[in-house]
Amino acid sequence: MKRVSILGSTGSIGVQTLKVIDVHQDRFTVAALSAGTNIELLKAQIDRYHPRMAAVSDEHHAAELRTLLGGGDTEIIWGVDGYRAIAGMADADVVMSAIVGAAGLIPTLAAIEAGKRVALANKETMVMAGAFITESAKKSGASIMPVDSEHSAIFQCLCGHRKDDVKRLILTASGGPFHTMTREEIGRVTVEDALAHPNWEMGKKVTIDSATLMNKGLEVIEARWFFDIDVERIDVLIHPRSIVHSMVEYIDGSIIAQLGIPDMRIPILYALAYPERLPSHMPSLDLAGTGALEFYLPDVNRFPALALAYRAAKEGGAAPALLNAANETAVEAFLTGGIPFTRIAGIVGEVLNQENDTTADTIDDILRADRRARERARTLIENEEHHK
Ligand SMILES: NC(=O)c1ccc[n+]([C@@H]2O[C@H](COP(=O)([O-])OP(=O)(O)OC[C@H]3O[C@@H](n4cnc5c(N)ncnc54)[C@H](OP(=O)(O)O)[C@@H]3O)[C@@H](O)[C@H]2O)c1
Repeated sequence: MKRVSILGSTGSIGVQTLKVIDVHQDRFTVAALSAGTNIELLKAQIDRYHPRMAAVSDEHHAAELRTLLGGGDTEIIWGVDGYRAIAGMADADVVMSAIVGAAGLIPTLAAIEAGKRVALANKETMVMAGAFITESAKKSGASIMPVDSEHSAIFQCLCGHRKDDVKRLILTASGGPFHTMTREEIGRVTVEDALAHPNWEMGKKVTIDSATLMNKGLEVIEARWFFDIDVERIDVLIHPRSIVHSMVEYIDGSIIAQLGIPDMRIPILYALAYPERLPSHMPSLDLAGTGALEFYLPDVNRFPALALAYRAAKEGGAAPALLNAANETAVEAFLTGGIPFTRIAGIVGEVLNQENDTTADTIDDILRADRRARERARTLIENEEHHK
């Protein structure tokens, strides 16, 4: 029996992780849960799974949750220290890292330092601090399993092959809801349009990132660290059906791909069960009924966020953390009506241009860069709102 702690159990990945556990109750049990502020859902999860600990964002939400629960055996903790406690809890074997955004970094690092099996959905952790995370995992003996469907696919395509034989990684991208639109049409899209992803049901932030292609850019950086490969050898192909989840090309010209229906419960199950494979009870992929599978190159003129992510990856140091923080701030502003869709990449590019000092020798340097980029982005957004 594997005991699983979930950071971000009230989110899209967190809820799907619990569904996977429901299907395999003989193999997995819930050790701890965490939410940000969705106390009602967390209460329902505690009632059902009886975790030993549960963490929320702050003291106020912790008090509210205790009142809602009216007792029980679950210890309620809060704040970054609460998330860290859950991540490092002695009686958990696997930590699902599914908090969204930079807030996931410190709790995930705690799980890695504690030597856990970490199922990593929070790509921002690798983007911001890939060098520290991989180094820290080497020291502690933690194993990091990808949850992103693309990285799960690449992980599987690499199994049984020599790293020296890899020519390049090919990440596929659905292209989001705007991949066939002109620049002018993209300039007019609304929040509602951007949240309507064609293939995947995800949290709001990652859905917007999918629409700008920043999500793919973050995944390129994530892949660079996960698979220890130069970013020049990571390519992106738009594949609107999201059936081929990613591929690896070898030096002899062979390309190995992983295919499946687009359902996150499959890579979640793989990350939790590895090295075993357990039945997912999902419908088989009906290739004959699927029709043509199309692939084409991404257009960085219409989707400049992807080019910005490659640029940050090549600059290295704190540049990916700056990119990530500016993007989170700009996405938030777009979601609340502060800036138009196309300004998300615009703001990120301007923050990268303004911040030349990209030293990142410590995690504190990275957190400082994150704060600086958020301030810069907020100033740019406020100026725009002022001139509306
Ligand atoms: N969804 C997908 O299909 C998918 C696929 C691949 C990778 N990912 C990655 O997985 C991560 C989670 O994505 P998601 O779609 O599941 O996001 P989501 O639905 O927005 O859920 C985010 C989770 O993080 C919690 N949270 C938010 N801010 C927090 C904070 N400051 N401190 C602590 N907890 C906080 C939320 O809690 P409350 O709601 O309680 O506030 C929620 O539990 C992201 O990094 C995303 O890129 C997602």
